[in-house]
Amino acid sequence: MTDSSSLVHDLLRLEAEALAAIAAAGAPAALEVVRVEYLGRQDGKVSRLLRHLGSLPVEARPAVGAEANRVKGVLQEALEQRASAPELMGPEVDSMSAADLTLPARQPWTGARHPVTRVVDEVCEIFRALGFTRVRGPEVETEWYNFVALNTPLDHPAADEQDTLYLDEGMLLRSHTSPVQIRTMEGHDPPIRVVAPGWVYRRDSYDPTHTPAFLQLEGLAVDEGITFVDLKATLAEFARRFFGEDTQIRFRPSFFPFTEPSAEVDVKRIVIRPDGARVETDWLEVMGAGMVDPAVLENVGYDPERYTGWAFGMGTGRLALLRHQVPDLRLFFESDMRFLSQLGGDSA
Ligand code: PHE
Repeated sequence: MTDSSSLVHDLLRLEAEALAAIAAAGAPAALEVVRVEYLGRQDGKVSRLLRHLGSLPVEARPAVGAEANRVKGVLQEALEQRASAPELMGPEVDSMSAADLTLPARQPWTGARHPVTRVVDEVCEIFRALGFTRVRGPEVETEWYNFVALNTPLDHPAADEQDTLYLDEGMLLRSHTSPVQIRTMEGHDPPIRVVAPGWVYRRDSYDPTHTPAFLQLEGLAVDEGITFVDLKATLAEFARRFFGEDTQIRFRPSFFPFTEPSAEVDVKRIVIRPDGARVETDWLEVMGAGMVDPAVLENVGYDPERYTGWAFGMGTGRLALLRHQVPDLRLFFESDMRFLSQLGGDSA
């Protein structure tokens, strides 16, 4: 016959043993093994011990039974507490406790404007501050707007199929934004101060410095008493605002059928080298410009005795190359998101 004091003694031994095993369990699976080993309904050590209860005298049974329930309760609680210990929680909490607080915070996902779009917007903004309104014109044009009204005869080399992309029925893809000069002057009397960015098309190669389509930006000012001095001062001010205070410009004589005199405009910038030295760049050509030819003013019905004006046309892709020191125009056409977000972020 089992005696009750040895049963209670065994229970207390199991309790101590189980508590030690619970404390030592290093993973949820190990904890479950301990639970089954001690509290398993069929084969757990506590259940097996209690099978001997039946051999105790009836009056001794309640006290031992109560002790057994106490031990079960203690073990149950110890199991639950251990299960919520930090090192036994899931991987999420694991990595939290292993978090490297020195890592930089994740950046929010920011979009980017295309670098050439940004340059167009910036140039328009500089001219807006100088009194110019942004306008636009169609990309499909007639020979009249693209050439003839601009004092360019159709036997001029620019009008040749070698250079210009013709469509059906005398239509063409505009080869420059200058037709917007004509459309603006036809629709409005002076004074006129506009900038007109837009796509232009030429039969051209696709290489680091040429693309068959590019964004050009036209400027036009017409009023009484406008002179070459206004042109030079305005473009010098633009260059300083766009490229920096120390930027210089120079005019080289040139020829365009729709301006007289005509010039190519070059800029020389100061750039800061990585070692901190300030160095001058070479002269870089950025646009064509000149005084609007009186023949053009006549074509739109203006009195060339009363009005004068100037115009310019610049390649904005070229400006973006200079601004960001990008070696190849084609990068602006290939949609590599790493490149675009690097140069197009608004904080850059
Ligand atoms: N339209 C000329 C070109 O595309 C540029 C230009 C514009 C020159 C206005 C003078 C005045 O080359």
